[in-house]
Amino acid sequence: MEHLQLRNYNSDIEIPLPHNTNLLYNKTVLCEMFSGEIMLINRVGPPVRGDDFFGRDAFMELVWQKIEAGHVLLAAPRRFGKTSVMYRLMDQPRGDYKIIHADLEHFIEPVELISELILKMAKDDQLSKISNSLSYFPKKLWGRFRSNFEEVALLQLKIKLREQLSSQWREKGDEFFHKVAASEQPILFILDEFPMMIDRMAQSETHREEAKTLLRWLRALRVSPEMKNIRFLIAGSIGIGYVLNELGDIATINDFEQLRLEPFSPRIATEFLQELSKTANLALSQPSQRKILDLIGTRVPYFIQILFSEIVKAYTQDGEAITPRKIEEIYHEKVLGVDCKTYFDHYYGRLRDYYEPQEERAIKRLLRELAMAGSLTRDASYSFYRLEMGGPADIEQFNYLMTNLENDFYIRFHTASNSYEFSCKLLRDWWLRHYAMHISLEH
Ligand SMILES: Nc1ncnc2c1ncn2[C@@H]1O[C@H](COP(=O)(O)OP(=O)(O)OP(=O)(O)O)[C@@H](O)[C@H]1O
Ligand SMILES: [Mg+2]
Repeated sequence: MEHLQLRNYNSDIEIPLPHNTNLLYNKTVLCEMFSGEIMLINRVGPPVRGDDFFGRDAFMELVWQKIEAGHVLLAAPRRFGKTSVMYRLMDQPRGDYKIIHADLEHFIEPVELISELILKMAKDDQLSKISNSLSYFPKKLWGRFRSNFEEVALLQLKIKLREQLSSQWREKGDEFFHKVAASEQPILFILDEFPMMIDRMAQSETHREEAKTLLRWLRALRVSPEMKNIRFLIAGSIGIGYVLNELGDIATINDFEQLRLEPFSPRIATEFLQELSKTANLALSQPSQRKILDLIGTRVPYFIQILFSEIVKAYTQDGEAITPRKIEEIYHEKVLGVDCKTYFDHYYGRLRDYYEPQEERAIKRLLRELAMAGSLTRDASYSFYRLEMGGPADIEQFNYLMTNLENDFYIRFHTASNSYEFSCKLLRDWWLRHYAMHISLEH
């Protein structure tokens, strides 16, 4: 029996479907299908789908064009809308492509990646036979899972499959990809947060060598002539260039075309805001709309969603008219306040995970100074860095670090003025609000 998978953002549930479909709908889309209404819901956090996915038509055209031609690397900072773009590819596929999507954010073993792809394929009615034909696929456990769709059965299946793959994962992975290629079905493998997986492997002593093996293995697969119907789209919120440089293996992705997911244009951002306000039944004057976009600065849909959501909350609670001044107050008190702190916490927290303590301190100092000054020349930035690093400061290391911060979307460099600034205004405001204080406390 076919199943329709409903995403309620916390968990997926499946209901039996009367007709043959593999489409993955979210609850909103389903409700709209039944009610006939189309509304843009203010969603803050999970990837958006269906009519909630706004303003990316031109970008989707570009992505499909590039997929036709080859492999794609989708790069953008955290929360810019990468996963939503991937879901759009899945929800509205083109050119006979079947899409297999895997989120690799928490993976560290090649077997996790390969088994995820095999399982995703097994779950697709049309492609299931490919997974089932693998010499090492646990067919009995699969049958058990298909009969009851229980989480426990799925877990057992996963464990068994990983176990099977753990000896000779390359050979077994080859078997999988050869079968995929032989099926002649065009398939797009979407590997979400691939750079993060490689980075995690690179940072672990026990997995560092395997990261290189995985990269080289995947590259060999991609360039093999029999794989002409297979495409990869990898996406990352950290720059993969840095990770690969670290590994000394930059050439392993030079067959990917990089596409950057940019913030909304001024026109799209205004239309987006107008749609949101229509759905929420909350009229926004033109000065209020302008104020929202000015405060946001870099027009990232997620930032617009956050501020808009806070405006609606405030209006619902106190009923006060929404004016530019009120919006400013909400921005400072709510968006930059503790309520929304977790939205950006990863930028701060990541520094601790990635750098040695002394370097971490130097980066934090630099970012605080940058937040306060708005922009800093290269020389000034180096001075702050040297001050914190003391003896071991070295210009090569500094250059490397700045490229890194640029790559991971914290800062950007202006060639004309030879200076750095925060990559987006909201992040700078947030840094100022939460971390500028440390300077006076520490010094
Ligand atoms: N096209 C869009 N239309 C409307 N809102 C969007 C769009 N793209 C992203 N958003 C907003 O941004 C949020 C994050 O989207 P998404 O999860 O796709 O981003 P991401 O880049 O994958 O994030 P992360 O790096 O954390 O994985 C969504 O919850 C939504 O609020
Ligand atoms: Mg994502």
